[in-house]
Amino acid sequence: MTTTLITGASSGIGKELAKLFARDGDDLVLVARSKGKLDELADQLSSAYQISATAIESDLSKHDAVDRLCGQLAERSLSVDTLVNNAGFGQLGAFAELDADRQTNMVMVNVTALTRLTRQLLPPMIHRGRGGILNVGSIAGYQAGPHMAVYYATKAYVLSFTEALREELSESGLHVTLLAPGPTKTGFGDDSEMGKLEMFASQAMSAEDVAKAGFDGYRKNEDIVVPGWRNRLMATSTSFVPRFLTRKIVGKLQKPGSP
Ligand SMILES: NC(=O)c1ccc[n+]([C@@H]2O[C@H](COP(=O)([O-])OP(=O)(O)OC[C@H]3O[C@@H](n4cnc5c(N)ncnc54)[C@H](OP(=O)(O)O)[C@@H]3O)[C@@H](O)[C@H]2O)c1
Repeated sequence: MTTTLITGASSGIGKELAKLFARDGDDLVLVARSKGKLDELADQLSSAYQISATAIESDLSKHDAVDRLCGQLAERSLSVDTLVNNAGFGQLGAFAELDADRQTNMVMVNVTALTRLTRQLLPPMIHRGRGGILNVGSIAGYQAGPHMAVYYATKAYVLSFTEALREELSESGLHVTLLAPGPTKTGFGDDSEMGKLEMFASQAMSAEDVAKAGFDGYRKNEDIVVPGWRNRLMATSTSFVPRFLTRKIVGKLQKPGSP
């Protein structure tokens, strides 16, 4: 049996990824703050696919969250083969006006917890020579994002970190994959207020399709999976459009009051 730990499994892309790993026969550790939703999903998937699913409540914005989570894994003798770092959130608005604590928490969840959890769970994976890491970044990671500066910067980190890790682990037998979605129909749109932008709402893919692309890419050990041709075009175009221009375009599209 192999075990997959998924952060942010209570909704959206993480929940759909949990269904796919369960259908493939993996035992699951489901992590998020919403314990009720995790328990419900764990019950549903363990009876549908005869797997074991454990729900662990954790607020990954807290500085000791990852160490506590690893302590709970040890107490239950759970070893993790695949780590899916999916938990994350964003916030549209001017950097100087958005709530400072929420922005700091965004860095904690999107960057710090992802990094520390990877650091804690990777050595045993390397020792066993199987399993790996699936990080959920975003096409936002490919350019600067005026009016959503911190979120875009966190996803640039995830892109760079995952690529570097993949190279370091190229001889290890582990899979290391980045899933970089574009707009996706989940709670993220309302929570971040991005959902009110026309360019987001009109192009959003389903969480099922995004998760399926990420799951398949991870199983095949692809380096970067960008689901959807529009998103692939956007990600690729940042290599040949000057940076001053991409940040101007994103700034215009995300300016408050933009269609
Ligand atoms: N939807 C999009 O358009 C889009 C596009 C590109 C990338 N992404 C990325 O996809 C990932 C999943 O987002 P989603 O679209 O599926 O949105 P979502 O439905 O809002 O899911 C976010 C998940 O993260 C968890 N989470 C948030 N804050 C947390 C915290 N402090 N501690 C622990 N877990 C926390 C949430 O669980 P609880 O609230 O229960 O804690 C939830 O399970 C994120 O990394 C996001 O940046 C999304």
